[in-house]
Amino acid sequence: MNAGKIKESFPFFTAHPSMVYLDNSATTQKPQAVIDVLNKYIVEENANAGRSSYTLSSRLSRRIEKVREKVADFIGAETSEVAFTAGATDSFHKAILSLGFSYLKDGDEVLYALDDHKSFVSAWFQLRDTLARNGTRITLIPYSRRQNGDADIEDIHRKTTLQTKIIAITHLHNTYGADSDVHLLKDLREKGIIVFVDATQSIGHMKVDVKELGADIMAFSGHKMFASPGSGVLFVDKELQTKLIPLFVGGGEGSWVSAASSKVEFVNFCRALESGTLNYPAILSLDPAISFINMIGLDEIEAHLGSLTVQLIQGLGKIPGVVFPPGPKYWTCLGGYGIVAFSVEGVNSAEIGYALDQENIMVRTGLFCRADEKDTRIDGLIRVSVHIYNTEDDIKNFLSAIGRLARNPC
Ligand SMILES: Cc1ncc(COP(=O)(O)O)c(C=O)c1O
Repeated sequence: MNAGKIKESFPFFTAHPSMVYLDNSATTQKPQAVIDVLNKYIVEENANAGRSSYTLSSRLSRRIEKVREKVADFIGAETSEVAFTAGATDSFHKAILSLGFSYLKDGDEVLYALDDHKSFVSAWFQLRDTLARNGTRITLIPYSRRQNGDADIEDIHRKTTLQTKIIAITHLHNTYGADSDVHLLKDLREKGIIVFVDATQSIGHMKVDVKELGADIMAFSGHKMFASPGSGVLFVDKELQTKLIPLFVGGGEGSWVSAASSKVEFVNFCRALESGTLNYPAILSLDPAISFINMIGLDEIEAHLGSLTVQLIQGLGKIPGVVFPPGPKYWTCLGGYGIVAFSVEGVNSAEIGYALDQENIMVRTGLFCRADEKDTRIDGLIRVSVHIYNTEDDIKNFLSAIGRLARNPC
């Protein structure tokens, strides 16, 4: 695979030829094919889907359904199990609100990890506190993480009780870069516990298949897999959908108010959530983004990310003062999906971020929205996250810059 050649399909890198962009976990750059779809929609195709009888509107509705087929195929789901949302955070909230108000009962428990992304964790906290105001008490029980960065599946099993209704788990962690063995929760799922997966960092980095993972609910953002910001996906298993009431409803084709029954009726849970005018260009951009990933192939992507991760870990390991948090340091075999966090002893991570910026190298610093960032005693970290267009030279440039900064802190 020629990452340098792939870079050429990203106009961002033509605009910034010498930039070393290593913040792909925050968002990816967009290939020309994605930009073309966005432009074409705004310039030539703008209409409101599913509401009007003219060709432009009905054509847009059909295209959205084609994108739905493509997304469903990409994650091993059925089309009726896919809802378009504004992104992972939006997906979490839409699903969690509905679970809270139409599924969970007083005394129920939800297992989660306190160092997962704030978007995921805080949605559960808000739900718990809002339910409590109305007299329904649910308990959020944190499970631990192993030193290699994985969610501790044994701890999840230990903490599961008859009251456990949901396990919230992140597939690929945004700080530790480790992929959790979500499939090892299948026995709990068979007992009726809902497995709710945050696939925001794994999508586009490895094969993500809802059936293989054993996910009942799964959420991710399009902008981290080459599509436009404002695109997101919520997968909900079709059996589970029949037990949930969508709490986000409105105009569109997914739901209607029935005067006869004085109720909101809906096609299915996922479609009802697509209420109001959607971000059509963003949804359409998922199509070329998935085509781009498929054209390269997830195996190729995984192999490339794995080899850059090894280069990063080995290179960083040789720099005096570099310290890894849980994750790479404890991996038993080298590999990974392109996310490596570390700190440099005695040097503030933000200062390193500013210094790297001066050298045209973009990385993320801080604690990357981990839910417990205010309480944790971990100092800020530096996170390098690579994707398919990053080259060995990008990593070499980054490593020599960090080497210099570690020797001569600013
Ligand atoms: C693991 C994880 N979950 C959720 C999110 C939230 O994604 P978004 O801001 O696109 O909604 C992020 C963003 O970085 C993430 O890394």
